[in-house]
Amino acid sequence: MLARHVLEIQTDVAASPSADEHFGLDQRDRIAAADGLLLVTPEYNNSLPGVFKNAIDWLTRPPKDIARVFRGKPVALMGATPGPGGTGLSQAAWLPVLRTLGTVPWFGSRVQVSNAARVFDAEGRIIDEAVRASVEKHLLGFAEFLARFTTKGT
Ligand SMILES: Cc1cc2nc3c(=O)[nH]c(=O)nc-3n(C[C@H](O)[C@H](O)[C@H](O)COP(=O)(O)O)c2cc1C
Repeated sequence: MLARHVLEIQTDVAASPSADEHFGLDQRDRIAAADGLLLVTPEYNNSLPGVFKNAIDWLTRPPKDIARVFRGKPVALMGATPGPGGTGLSQAAWLPVLRTLGTVPWFGSRVQVSNAARVFDAEGRIIDEAVRASVEKHLLGFAEFLARFTTKGT
């Protein structure tokens, strides 16, 4: 089973009275306790969205917490765009961030969903069966990796 916990990283830091209220110990602890981290990224100007990067940046402060929160953490990427690119460039732009934080990226398959308006309905459900199958394959592959990784690590 992939997700025992779904952590939604909040990105509205500008609206919060204090960064620690949104990106404080609680969020860092939840990532530290998770078996893995799945980043579902949009693409902005052929790169990663600044507000998403900013959320990760806050989670790396104080720097002494980076090892506890991110180092050795299995991470998978996926994403969707309204255009033809499918977040390929955004996902590539995440790689130096993942390397810098010492994560263990999983590259077993790729999910780069293009033309998202034709793939999701108004409620955000996947209506394209080929995309649904590729998302399922991706999540199962990551879950299998996590199971192997967790067993090895104990
Ligand atoms: C500033 C900006 C830049 C964007 N650049 C791209 C892009 O380079 N490629 C792409 O496919 N979509 C691009 N988009 C569309 C986003 O991928 C799309 O808006 C996003 O998936 C929807 O989430 P949002 O709430 O972040 O807008 C861009 C959107 C914005 C607001």
